[in-house]
Formats: sequence, structure tokens, C-alpha cells
Amino acid sequence: MSQSLTIPRPDDWHLHLRDGAVLRAVLPETARHFGRAIIMPNLVPPVVTGKDAAAYRDRILSALPEGMVFEPLMTLYLTEDTDAEDVAAAHKNGLIKAVKLYPAGATTNSASGVRDFDKVRGVLEKMAEIDLPLCVHGEVTDSEIDIFDREAVFIDRVLDPLRRAMPGLRVVMEHITTQDGVDYVKANKADLGATITTHHLVINRNHLLVGGIRPHYYCLPVAKREEHRLALRAAATSGDARFFLGTDSAPHTDPNKESACGCAGCFTATNTLSILTEVFEQENALDNLAGFASENGPAFYGLPVNTETVTLTKGEPISYPQKIDTEDGPVTLFDPQMPLHWRVT
Ligand code: DOR
Ligand code: ZN
Repeated sequence: MSQSLTIPRPDDWHLHLRDGAVLRAVLPETARHFGRAIIMPNLVPPVVTGKDAAAYRDRILSALPEGMVFEPLMTLYLTEDTDAEDVAAAHKNGLIKAVKLYPAGATTNSASGVRDFDKVRGVLEKMAEIDLPLCVHGEVTDSEIDIFDREAVFIDRVLDPLRRAMPGLRVVMEHITTQDGVDYVKANKADLGATITTHHLVINRNHLLVGGIRPHYYCLPVAKREEHRLALRAAATSGDARFFLGTDSAPHTDPNKESACGCAGCFTATNTLSILTEVFEQENALDNLAGFASENGPAFYGLPVNTETVTLTKGEPISYPQKIDTEDGPVTLFDPQMPLHWRVT
């Protein structure tokens, strides 16, 4: 008898859709399974103003194939010049659901990010006042800090002081990758949430580096030691409502990944739900999948859970394409290196 599981249609609380040809190719991969997604603003140039976000939202909706239903939840990219009133207006008219903080230089297209936190104090105060969450890329960028320590150091040096200085501000630690991140969330209250990606539940740094460098496993924050992956799996599958799915699905074409200086990002939109269900089954936690993928995120963002559902059915291993074609070149799909048995219908 085949086993099946029906959950509310999930949402992705951290997604890169890009623009142009790549947007057109990857959007259906997300919209097929997900109802909504928090759309990352790290385009070139970044999505900084309400006007930028409205234009980007229109481009996303016009790239959506006929018959597909999907709601992009827009964000603004926080810069040292961001205007608090513009942020408040974009929130008031329902356009944006969060503001994204990239420390300058932390990752792909983060050059316009924040260097001096004093310069964004006014915007953060306004966000606390209007209850608009801040999504944080939690890595320090100082060259003397080892890349594997950047998240833990960020928590101590930046995040904790920032939260103490802005007590009313709700914060999402994006794509946590360490036990330190899990512990920090657990030690706090419901005003701090964290997204966890699919790929960080599956790979550790050995997958990236042992037996040859595997550029399609390179992402930021970089995958850490096995003990951290296990801490993330425990958190994601625990049922704790402060943890929810943010895939950080981040398409780059193969030439940009398979290069002497390859871009960071794992593209997981297509097979995320099959992988996650497999992971939750391995952890004997299928009952908590709906919380992680469909319920905890809306609760944090103050939005309703989707009324539609998806059904996951267990059967023979499913094959997913190795690559998605775009007019800019192929994008390789994340390979979880395990058979996937759960089909989404
Ligand atoms: O791996 C990543 N890719 N991490 C990020 O923070 C950015 C993303 C991207 O935009 O490619
Ligand atoms: Zn991201």
C-alpha cells in the first residue's frame, strides 16, 4: 500500500528568483509546489525602494506561466541610504513583508549592504514600530574571521547587540547553518525566528570538498561540520515553531558555478519537497513536516496558512532532471545523493 501525506500548500520563506531569462525558467519550479515565497532583493542593482519592489513584483507576475498561482512576498534590500518613510509606505500598502540585511560583502551581490549599523538605526526603529520583520544574512565579513566561524561570530558581535538595542524588532536569522544558530534561537523568544534550507539538512562540508571540489554544493553560509548538520535536522524536525523552511534556492548558470571563482548558491526549488519529506521520514518526524514547511512561517509573518493542500505519496524512487535550461544557460539542480521516494501531487 502506498503511503501518503497531505499538508497545507507550503511556502518558501527565502528564495532567489533573479530576473529575465533565469526568472522565467526557475519561477515555475517554485510555483509548482509553493503558494508564496519571500523574494530576496539581491538583484544588480538591488531592490532598494518601494518603487523597485513594485516593478520587480510585476516582472515576477508577468513571468508566471498561465494557470499557475503564486504570490511573491517582496522585500527591500537595506542600505545605509534606505529611507525609513519609503519602507513604511511600502509596508503599509501591503507590498513588502520584510527588509533584508546583508552585511556588506557577505555574499552574492551584497556590495550595497550595511557597513555602519548606526546609519540604519532610524530604519530599524521604524520597522520595530510598524512590526515589519528584518531578515538577516548572519555572517560577519571581516577578512580575519575564518569562513566557518562567520555565523557564530556574527551572533555575538552583531546580532545579539542589535537585538538588545532594538527590543521590539522581529528578526529572522536566515539560513542558519550551525548549532550556535540553533542554540541562539532557542535561547530567545518568539520574536526571533530562523529559516533552514533544504540543502543544509543534507550536506556537510565533506560533501563540498572530499574527493574533489563540488561547486554545486558551494553556498553561503557554507556548509559546516556534520555535528552542525545534525543540529539543524533536529531543529527543523522538532516541531519548534521558531524554525521554518527558507530554501535559499539560488540559481546560477553552470559556467558561473563551475569556474575558478564559482558563485555561491544551491538550486533546490524543483526537488525541495521530495528531499524534505525524505529527511523528515528519516528523522521519524513526518508529523512535523506541515509545521516546518507550511505553518510556522505564516505564523511568524502574521499571514494565514494556505488553504490549498499538496499530497506527498511514497513510491519507487523519482528521477528529477539534472539541470533546468534557461536562455542564459543550464542551471544544475541540487543532488541530494540519496534516492527520493516522495512524489508531490
Ligand atoms: O549561497 C548563497 N547564494 N547564499 C546567499 O546568501 C546568496 C545566494 C545568491 O544570491 O546566490
Ligand atoms: Zn539567500
